[in-house]
Formats: sequence, structure tokens, C-alpha cells
Amino acid sequence: MKLRVLVLTHQKIELPTSLKGLSEKEIAPWKTEYHVVNTLKQLKHETKLLGDVDEVAAIRTTLFDWKPHITFNLLEEFRGEGIYVPYVLGYLQLMRQPFTGCHPTGLQVADDKALAKKLLRYHRIPAPDFAVFPRGRTIRRPRRLSFPLFVKSSTEHGSAGIAQASLVTNDEKLTERVQFIHEQIGTDALAEEYIEGRELYLGVIGNQRLQTFPVWEMRFEKLADGKPRIATERIKWNLEYQKKHGIKTGAAKDLPDGVADRIVKLSKRVYRILGLTGYARMDFRLAEDGKLFLLEPNPNPDLARDEDFAESAKAVGMGYDRLIAKILKLGLKTNRG
Ligand SMILES: Nc1ncnc2c1ncn2[C@@H]1O[C@H](COP(=O)(O)OP(=O)(O)O)[C@@H](O)[C@H]1O
Ligand SMILES: [Mg+2]
Repeated sequence: MKLRVLVLTHQKIELPTSLKGLSEKEIAPWKTEYHVVNTLKQLKHETKLLGDVDEVAAIRTTLFDWKPHITFNLLEEFRGEGIYVPYVLGYLQLMRQPFTGCHPTGLQVADDKALAKKLLRYHRIPAPDFAVFPRGRTIRRPRRLSFPLFVKSSTEHGSAGIAQASLVTNDEKLTERVQFIHEQIGTDALAEEYIEGRELYLGVIGNQRLQTFPVWEMRFEKLADGKPRIATERIKWNLEYQKKHGIKTGAAKDLPDGVADRIVKLSKRVYRILGLTGYARMDFRLAEDGKLFLLEPNPNPDLARDEDFAESAKAVGMGYDRLIAKILKLGLKTNRG
């Protein structure tokens, strides 16, 4: 069936009709939107891209005037805040508008790293031990947490605020980095056990029946010895830096026996515990002694054609068109009035 699909994004963008003559760097900021919108068109759906919305009124008008069958949610923030996205979805629910991806409660829980970890540890999901350092309070390390520790924002994504300096080995550095998160990132901070090891991801898709993709890995091939292998902001987003340091992601090779199975089982459990819907990517670390740790669940991960999630779907024969079609189908099944 041909659908009217309203694509929501936080960016102010005019998508070009073709990518000819544009560099990878020029395309990078809006490639997800470009890939999704073009694929929807190829699937013969009618699309409308609503970018840079900062008032619900704009969404409301489009819902009334254009009557989309479904909203494709590519919002990463609303009025500059990631934590507002679930409220926009809540509004869509009130309007009886189906949408793609995770529903607001799942998104809200998963995107609050501290809250998600509390729930997961109650269910004995192996996740690094941690402490929360709220803004405006004295920074004191609980004695059970020993160094090395890893400091990050409790609500930001995309490695915002993550650098080599996130790895701290004494109280002075811990305080410094927590203050950095409070002041520069503007959120509460989390410090957790640092897990040295392989960086693994798993894509999950579904509402009730879940399908998983092959285990994916970020490899750090040319990073100088002794440099911690972590997906810093630069490593995740800077194309030149990635090339220079041999950062590559692809199917994980030579995993010890049973690890892939454990990752699949754990991921499905986490998905269900947090009540996620749509699609998600789970981030893991495999320590040298074989212990597996969940770093974080990511509902609504980046959908660019060449990002981990879509690439790992392709590896099991779910090409990009089919992936987008499946996400639409899952979205249509939920959030209906
Ligand atoms: N406890 C940890 N031990 C080791 N590395 C970590 C830890 N937490 C995060 N990292 C590194 O930092 C990256 C980003 O952290 P993550 O919690 O996934 O936040 P984000 O939401 O920004 O992706 C991870 O992919 C990993 O490389
Ligand atoms: Mg992550």
C-alpha cells in the first residue's frame, strides 16, 4: 500500500536530488535523512520531510492538513534536547498517529543511562558497576568503585563528552572529568568500571517477535599501543581520524565459542526488560577473561545505510529497502488508536 509518510528530523535541511559531486564530509550531517527519504520514495511512498521543528504546532498542522498514515521518527532532539523526544512521541500518541521506532516510555528509560542501568542490574544483566554524580552535589566516589573508572554523561549520546580523558585513574582526575561533564555537557555524570576489551554491537528489530543481526565490532587497527580503545567522539564522527587510525566496523570475527549466542540472548532480554519496540542496537564489551558487559541499549540507532545497524541487517540478507519497509510495518502495528 502506498503511504503518506511524514519524516521528522531536528535538522534544518533541504535534501538535494542527487549526491553527485558532494564529498563524504558534506553528505555526513544529513545522510540518514537522505537515505531514508529516498528509500521511502523508491518504495513508492509519498514523503514529507519536516525539519527543524521546535513547536508542536508545526507537527499538528501537518497531521491535520496532510493526514500522514505514519510518522518516520528521525528526531534526535527537540528544541536542542534529546530528553524531549519522547514527549513529541507522546503527542503523536495523543493524536493517534502511528510512528516508527521505539515508543516514548522505552525511549525515556533507555536514554537515561543511570535509570536503565538500575533496572538492568535488578534483573542481573551484566553491566559495569557505576555511580551517578548529579550536578550541584559534592563529588565523592563510593568506596566500592575502584579505578580505573570511565566517566560519561548520564543522558547524552553519540559519544558526546567522551574522549581519552574519560578514562580516569585517581580521584583528582575523576573530579575533573565529572566537573567537565557537568559544565561542558550540562548533564549529570556517571562513572563506571572501565572494561578493557573488544567493542561489540548487536542489532535487534521487532515488537514482540525479535530478530537479531550478526554481532558487529568496532576495530581499532592503527591506534598507538597503550592508547585506550574507546569509541570517542572523534573516533565515531571524524572521517579523517577514522582513516588515520584504522577504525573499522564490520562483522565480528573469531569470537570465542558461545559469545555470539550469549550476546543474542542478553540483547533480547534487555530489549524486553526495558520494553523496547521498533529497533535497537545494544553496545557491549567483551573483556579479555571472557566476561561480557552490556554498555548501553540504544533504541532508534542511526539508520544511515552505511552505519552499523543497516550494514549488519544487510549481512543477513535484509537489504536497506527491506529494512526500511520492515521498520514502517512495525511502526504501523503499534501506536494506533
Ligand atoms: N565502562 C566502559 N568501559 C570501557 N569503555 C567504555 C565504557 N563505557 C563507555 N565506553 C566507551 O565509550 C563509548 C561510548 O559510550 P556509551 O556508553 O556507548 O555512550 P554513547 O551513548 O555516547 O554511545 C563506548 O562505545 C565505549 O567505547
Ligand atoms: Mg554507545
